[in-house]
Amino acid sequence: MSDGVIPTRAAMEGDGYYNRHSAMQAAGNSAALSLWQSAANSVAFGDESLVIVDYGSSQGKNSMDPIAIAIQALRARAGSERFVEVIHTDLPSNDFTSLFTALENEPQSYMRGAEGIFPSAVGRSYYEALLPPGRVHLGWNSWTMQWMSQHPIDIPDHIFGLHSKFEKVHDSLLQQQARDWRLFLERRAVELRADGRLLCLFPGRPEEKVGWEWLTSELWLALLDMKDNGLLSGDDLLHINIPTAPRKLASIRAPFATESGQFAGLRIEHAEILPGPDLHWDAFERTGDAFPLARGWTGMMRAFSGPTVAAALTGKPDRAALVDELFRRLETRLVSNPQRHEHFVAVVLLHKVS
Ligand SMILES: C[S@@+](CC[C@H](N)C(=O)[O-])C[C@H]1O[C@@H](n2cnc3c(N)ncnc32)[C@H](O)[C@@H]1O
Repeated sequence: MSDGVIPTRAAMEGDGYYNRHSAMQAAGNSAALSLWQSAANSVAFGDESLVIVDYGSSQGKNSMDPIAIAIQALRARAGSERFVEVIHTDLPSNDFTSLFTALENEPQSYMRGAEGIFPSAVGRSYYEALLPPGRVHLGWNSWTMQWMSQHPIDIPDHIFGLHSKFEKVHDSLLQQQARDWRLFLERRAVELRADGRLLCLFPGRPEEKVGWEWLTSELWLALLDMKDNGLLSGDDLLHINIPTAPRKLASIRAPFATESGQFAGLRIEHAEILPGPDLHWDAFERTGDAFPLARGWTGMMRAFSGPTVAAALTGKPDRAALVDELFRRLETRLVSNPQRHEHFVAVVLLHKVS
């Protein structure tokens, strides 16, 4: 097993594809909205412009409701004319064009009919400093912290490391995740104002389960099919990895196991792991039609993993066709083996206390 360190640079599938195929993430976000609203109701501010940051916005559609809720809650206290800055951040490769188009055109855009709201964007990894110290009143961060800053190790027997049978792979991923979580918290702690709040929602896992077994294993089996058919090599498979993994509550809480219960001036106000939404299973049970379920989950899988697979095939002239073929095969596999998508969501609210 070699050391396959590759920094994470690929964002989501572009041209608005993620916006059109991220209903699962939107449904997961809705579980955190009342907690988010209570954070907006309690954060302290003076007479300055209010600053809301969306860390890992992707193409923006799923940010509209949380940002609208925060603006409404803050202005209910600060007055309806208070200026609000909304800063969307993501990797430089993100499709920011779709984000700004969604701000203009989406029916649920927080810009609809709004005055005095100023959206902008930062294209830089959030493992770096993104904003000057003490700028941010509220930070929203949904479905991003499963992405590691780099892929720390090759995985010979799966595309998602926690489903590998190799302990060495698990250890390497868990260490990378722990480093990333601490670094992310340190960076955000500097950017938050005193009393600011940061809500993070990302794939979680209970003690005894990982989740995502069915979809990720079918994707791996589709890759093996392509290798068996001579379309991909063993070496290609070794390098096609999606550097994502869910976290347990214990690892989320680990940096806060200090005497003060604080890490970098942050305290956990709320942390829980919830069952994740399955948007397709009930309809499948009613109709027995596996095609909509397979199409829906294939779109979701491609939206987040397609560009990372394509990046691993750099140098192959036919890589776009290979990625199309992979997801065609995934859809076919899901049609013939429909299952409930079991996964879990971590919701964490952090408070800047010192
Ligand atoms: C699944 S999308 C989530 C989008 C949106 N927040 C939502 O709730 O649907 C994950 C996003 O995290 C971004 N991301 C991953 N690693 C990142 C990093 N190091 N810095 C900034 N953004 C990152 C990806 O580019 C992608 O746009």
